Amino acid sequence: MSLAIVPWTKEHDASQFTSNLASIKKYIQEQAQRDVSSYTSSVFVLTEPGDMVIRGYYSLSSLSIVFQELPPKVQKRLPRYTETSAILLGRLGVDKEYSQKLLDHTGIKPRLGELLLADVQIRALKNSKDVGSALLVVDAEMPSTEEQKNGARDPLPFYEKYGFVPLTNNPRRVIKTMRAISKEFESL
Ligand SMILES: CC(C)(COP(=O)(O)OP(=O)(O)OC[C@H]1O[C@@H](n2cnc3c(N)ncnc32)[C@H](O)[C@@H]1OP(=O)(O)O)[C@@H](O)C(=O)NCCC(=O)NCCS
Repeated sequence: MSLAIVPWTKEHDASQFTSNLASIKKYIQEQAQRDVSSYTSSVFVLTEPGDMVIRGYYSLSSLSIVFQELPPKVQKRLPRYTETSAILLGRLGVDKEYSQKLLDHTGIKPRLGELLLADVQIRALKNSKDVGSALLVVDAEMPSTEEQKNGARDPLPFYEKYGFVPLTNNPRRVIKTMRAISKEFESL
């Protein structure tokens, strides 16, 4: 199965998008257009080539992180400016039903989250060469009790699995240095 990750356009269709996290569904259906048209965030969508139906997506914007909030190990490897430049991965989600359909059809886990997160890192690395960003940052949203009852899982271990580490005073905000991303993805 070939898949593409392309910039969101008004022609893309999120009407059938399903997620265990209400905020992930609401964002792509109701908020992405406003964010893209105002240049607040850029949004990239996973589709089958030639098809406009959104099967997954992520959004990126820029921010800065207070240097003192970084873990000491990360601080050691960065210049000591008061704030450190960063790219924020605001949202990332896969269409739950589509992912399940692929699994049922092929018997192989499609690993769409992993695919999207790899694309995020490659894009962040490329962009940080034009506009420097020392960190990639994610706020891992904890699903509500109700969402957890319906099968939603805390995404924090997902990010930790791919090398993200928590900030000292905010364990739900995880970061990965662009240097670490470069080591993993530069040769691709
Ligand atoms: C989080 C999410 C993007 C992961 O996508 P996915 O397609 O289910 O994940 P993948 O199949 O690519 O998983 C890759 C690996 O991460 C693991 N993983 C995925 N989600 C995980 C979680 N919540 N906790 C722990 N491990 C997780 C998988 O088991 C797999 O591990 P393996 O290599 O041992 O097989 C997806 O579940 C999702 O859209 N969740 C709802 C939205 C959300 O929580 N977004 C993040 C908010 S910031």
